[in-house]
Amino acid sequence: KKQYRIAVIPGDGIGKEVMPEGLRVLEAAAKKHGVALHFDHFDFSSWDYYEKHGQMMPDDWKEKIGKHDAIYFGAVGWPAKIPDHVSLWGSLIKFRREFDQYVNLRPVRLMPGVPSPLAGRKPGDIDFWVVRENTEGEYSSVGGRMFPDTDREFVTQQTVMTRTGVDRILKFAFELAQSRPKKHLTSATKSNGISITMPYWDERVEAMAKKYPGVKWDKYHIDILTANFVLHPDWFDVVVGSNLFGDILSDLGPACTGTIGIAPSGNINPEGDFPSVFEPVHGSAPDIAGQGIANPIGAIWSGAMMLEHLGEKEAGKSIVEAIERTLAERTLRTKDLGGNADTTACGKAVAEMVD
Ligand code: NAD
Ligand code: IPM
Ligand code: MN
Repeated sequence: KKQYRIAVIPGDGIGKEVMPEGLRVLEAAAKKHGVALHFDHFDFSSWDYYEKHGQMMPDDWKEKIGKHDAIYFGAVGWPAKIPDHVSLWGSLIKFRREFDQYVNLRPVRLMPGVPSPLAGRKPGDIDFWVVRENTEGEYSSVGGRMFPDTDREFVTQQTVMTRTGVDRILKFAFELAQSRPKKHLTSATKSNGISITMPYWDERVEAMAKKYPGVKWDKYHIDILTANFVLHPDWFDVVVGSNLFGDILSDLGPACTGTIGIAPSGNINPEGDFPSVFEPVHGSAPDIAGQGIANPIGAIWSGAMMLEHLGEKEAGKSIVEAIERTLAERTLRTKDLGGNADTTACGKAVAEMVD
């Protein structure tokens, strides 16, 4: 029996509500598939921890979670108490950068029975992956503020693209495209307006494409690409983008499938030098936190991605199938998908359907 050690970090807000459901479903799948999951729970990367300790994480956070096989994460951010850039750069963004999780992999799939806000779309019409660069780009710490509180005040934040950083995310995306039936890759760009970094991105895409002659590829400027997500979601198979563009596309895509509440993600270090983080795409949702109505599917599906990443393909697949069977029943869906199930009822339904 294979054994895995998982670090569990619920974080803030609905992170704390959806994680128990994710764990419930992981336990069910592990039991059915003969996988042993050992969970270590951590309370850092949350407002509660910050309030007590004056920082988001302990100084030795890397020792605490760096040897685990994977990290299962909820959501972080509580803007009423702490500015988002402080909580996020003190936790989640640290994981991504310091554990070199340069791939942020985010599936977008319209599930059977779930109504899309886009008229006439059925399952199969929306089924693609957003591959988001996760360690550099627009999310850089190069820049600063000068002459604060004067008329001369100015702020800058540089976009950073390194050849290694751009090439490795493109290679991952092309490999993924090559493994899919449609073998189609779309690159998100903005090389008409962002005149230095984005033309560089395009250049590297073109160079990488030469190594994958079997993959058809195209590119769109990000403005029309967002329009095409809504008008022609069936055009897409693998969509690769910089850190910021990938962030935007990975909320828009799931919204086209009914809700961002079901969207999962893997922050992946493909080389396995560091643990990868699996978390829903959504945040801590302060507007609904504490009501027990959050959709747990994003967290549950992230658990499935985690199992697949660990090599437990069958167990992962059994969870995705259980999600499909659950979402097909309106009464088992949460409010964001037009149902009346609460977080726990939805989570329990998925756990029971795992086989
Ligand atoms: P959000 O994703 O938390 O919420 C956006 C909207 O979607 C809200 O109306 C919310 O109620 C709804 N929503 C989100 N998840 C849902 C779910 N599972 N079920 C039902 N409805 C759901 O985004 P936001 O409001 O921009 O951010 C809130 C906080 O979360 C901020 O602090 C932000 O920085 C943080 N955040 C964290 C992460 C993360 O941890 N990965 C991601 C996004 C935002
Ligand atoms: C996400 C989130 C984060 C991001 C925020 C909370 C910093 O929106 O995981 O998509 O921008 O990466
Ligand atoms: Mn986001």
